[in-house]
Amino acid sequence: MNNIMNVLLLGSGGREHALAWKIAQSPLLKTLYIAPGNAGTDQCGKNVNINISDFSAVESFIINNDIGMLVVGPEAPLVEGIHDYLISKPELKGLKIIGPQKAGAMLEGSKDFAKAFMHRHHIPTAAYRTFTYETINEAHSFLDTLNPPYVIKADGLAAGKGVIICDKKNEAINTIDEILKNEKFGEAGSKVVIEEFLDGIEMSVFVLTDGKKYILLPEAKDYKRIGEGDTGPNTGGMGSISPVPFADKDLMLRIEKEVVIPTIKGLKKDNIPYTGFIFFGLMICNDAPFVIEYNVRMGDPETESVIPRIESDLLEAFEACATGKLSEYNLQTDARFAATVMLVSEGYPGSYEKGKKMTISEKAFEGVLFHAGTKKSDDFVVSNGGRVLAVTAYGNTMDEALKEAYNHVPEVNFEGKTFRNDLGKDLQKYC
Ligand code: AMP
Ligand code: GLY
Repeated sequence: MNNIMNVLLLGSGGREHALAWKIAQSPLLKTLYIAPGNAGTDQCGKNVNINISDFSAVESFIINNDIGMLVVGPEAPLVEGIHDYLISKPELKGLKIIGPQKAGAMLEGSKDFAKAFMHRHHIPTAAYRTFTYETINEAHSFLDTLNPPYVIKADGLAAGKGVIICDKKNEAINTIDEILKNEKFGEAGSKVVIEEFLDGIEMSVFVLTDGKKYILLPEAKDYKRIGEGDTGPNTGGMGSISPVPFADKDLMLRIEKEVVIPTIKGLKKDNIPYTGFIFFGLMICNDAPFVIEYNVRMGDPETESVIPRIESDLLEAFEACATGKLSEYNLQTDARFAATVMLVSEGYPGSYEKGKKMTISEKAFEGVLFHAGTKKSDDFVVSNGGRVLAVTAYGNTMDEALKEAYNHVPEVNFEGKTFRNDLGKDLQKYC
């Protein structure tokens, strides 16, 4: 029998509220702590005010609160090596950690590493080359071998701003110079990856893996641009839909065979241990999957529509993952659609104001409301970020799920509430 345990979840976004909501339903849970959390996670467990980049503070909290499992939501602490730090402490022997060690987190932490990994293991991805300040002239001439648009990527983590797509060659040259000469992204831009532009349709695929076996989670599609019709600047994500109507059985099998399995085998071959999620950002071009990027965490806002479709006990799945028993694990999922509409602050992804008072009607709780950038202030909940709340609803069809989610949107209000009204329109032709 599995023991009940205390769990510490790191992060503070909509992804973490969705994870906290699901973990809180587990019979294996004693107490859930979320660091630092938001006003929504506070309803699923206890928020604790620790800086998640301060590994020794996390360590002390784990020891003092008898934590049995640590679930790391965002990528930054993983890339910085929180897993490696904690397992090096003899007093934390037996702590289960969902989230890879630094070596595995490089799949997200360095685009050059990820591209070389894909190349080595024959995983389909856009053709590319990597350049540094020393090879900046070669970077400029490499552009002549490509057709526009040009895809320029800072190697390291750049808070979602490190991918720049340029229509014109002179813009591409300026972008390369900004990153390599003017150090626009600091150390994260010490290398630049330039790659072939892939023209297709994007989707997100997720697995939970122990480095040998994996379980496939429901797939999703997210909406990155701020404006309707996919216009305007990129955001963290304006909504998501799961399942993806065009991802039929054949495509999903092809993704597993050509992308997922070679990735897991590649980790094993390279002796990279891995416990946690892998998020495959894919471009589907003429029914063929290409990997645009790996992430070593769940997607946000994809999690807000993926997690509600998981019927199995998530802690049980995490336990199987952390103890190498995934091969015996069978994930049960809900066949219905889930759709998530993200409510954001006016001005986002540019500058915006925080501290807007939230009113949430009782009826909103008939849907699933995940907090993202919110916090408690006295007796109120106020906005505390660009992406503020995620409204998720189910339906037997994509349209039903979207209609239901949009029905709940007026039940949540704050000054400047902004959202996209066109989610799913691009997918109607596949339904
Ligand atoms: P990322 O910040 O890594 O999620 O990338 C941002 C977005 O850039 C992706 O979601 C894609 O829409 C786009 N992108 C990245 N690489 C390529 C590529 N090789 N071809 C076309 N679009 C790309
Ligand atoms: N929704 C995309 C991401 O989480 O990176």
